[in-house]
Amino acid sequence: MFKPPFILSIAGGGSTYTPGIVKSLMVRLADFPLAEIRLYDIDGERQSVIAPVVEKVIRDHSQSIKFTVTTDPEVAFSGAHFVFAQMRVGQYKMREQDEKIPLRHGVVGQETCGPGGLAYGLRTILPMVELCDFVERYANQKAWIVNYSNPAAIVAEGVRRLRPNARVLNICDMPVAAMRNMGAILGVDRHKLEVDYFGLNHFGWFTRVLVDGEDRLPELRRHIAKFGLLTEDAAQTDPQHSDPSWVKTWRHIKPIMDHFPEFLPNPYLQYYLMPNDIVEHQNPDYTRANEVMDGREKKLFAAAAEYKQTGILPDAFHVGVHGAFIVDVACSLAFDLRQRHLVIVENKGAIANLPYDAMVEVPAYITSEGPEPVRMGAVPLFHQTLLMQQLASEQLLVEATIEGSYEKALQAFTLNRTVPTMQHAKAILDDMIEANRDYWPQLQQAWKDGE
Ligand code: G6P
Ligand code: MN
Repeated sequence: MFKPPFILSIAGGGSTYTPGIVKSLMVRLADFPLAEIRLYDIDGERQSVIAPVVEKVIRDHSQSIKFTVTTDPEVAFSGAHFVFAQMRVGQYKMREQDEKIPLRHGVVGQETCGPGGLAYGLRTILPMVELCDFVERYANQKAWIVNYSNPAAIVAEGVRRLRPNARVLNICDMPVAAMRNMGAILGVDRHKLEVDYFGLNHFGWFTRVLVDGEDRLPELRRHIAKFGLLTEDAAQTDPQHSDPSWVKTWRHIKPIMDHFPEFLPNPYLQYYLMPNDIVEHQNPDYTRANEVMDGREKKLFAAAAEYKQTGILPDAFHVGVHGAFIVDVACSLAFDLRQRHLVIVENKGAIANLPYDAMVEVPAYITSEGPEPVRMGAVPLFHQTLLMQQLASEQLLVEATIEGSYEKALQAFTLNRTVPTMQHAKAILDDMIEANRDYWPQLQQAWKDGE
């Protein structure tokens, strides 16, 4: 293993999340010593707006850390020990399309779930593979990519198929955000919780929530039956997910558990289990992408402009579980801490009745050679079936991307639980091909009449 201090590159440097992640790194410098932070983005202009904010965050904590901002992959990754990836291919403008196109057809419009997530997958798999290749070419041989890029389930499967030996660990902050809320409800720091969980990314269930060896899920069930997975002061517990749409999402844990009280669902299951309700209450002309562009993004850009003018940086970004979690995972990888975290990992029997090679989300011990998944056993038929259908949809989408197959893309869309009929699937897919002309690989129809 390499020795600290580390060189860390952030791919997707222009993200609204970058300042929060860097702030999390700064408060953990004693645990995760850094020699250099590099920001890398293909959109140099956007990155140059965020970079001074990031530099200020660094300088408030350290004068010695070198800070580099680049659009050149060789500069970004040469000799790097860690790469935090958080790319958003097509940026929020394309997220808006992912959300609005399905809604025009009366189907859930969401960043990572349903047709929106599939479309985002078709945009992201190949750029993510390109990033793996840059890292392999330029970075330290033992470098780890810790990946937040969405749609994480599809990205993980795409990378597994195309670059099976890449040192990538795919993660998501949703389970840990749920654990933070559980901790707040139970009056216990989230680090004290040891959970069992099974599923795919944005599609899973907590089955046990241990505190000092005692399962506190019964107590959480009683709270959720009244309030969902929400504390009284939601904004304080979770500044990152405190917009009204997120508050509603946490509340939706209640109707799901009213019907199926056994396990505690990932909030994203609302899109698959109550899609009609979601569509009915969604303004098709103003979706979450608009909320984010008018909220988080605008606020950060305005703060960057103010900082440039006055030299004073207003409070404009959140430092929460999102940043803390990726630093925790990186520490465990760097120092072989074998900490137990919920991550996305090749199944290898962890969920006994899902395919051996499926990319699942389960607890794993994070070693310097990667995650060792913890056995969750066999899951009930209901959950297994939901998971298999979602897995098939996502795997077909990956195959569609690799093979350039229209049929497989249409099968992926048709199999997704949010899509009621094959006609809906085709209409949405065809609109999305149009909207994604600059991003998707060509999809060919092998069985077209006359060919
Ligand atoms: C959670 C999920 C992420 C997702 C994010 C969207 O944190 O784990 O995968 O990207 O929510 O949040 P936003 O505020 O952009 O809607
Ligand atoms: Mn996520």
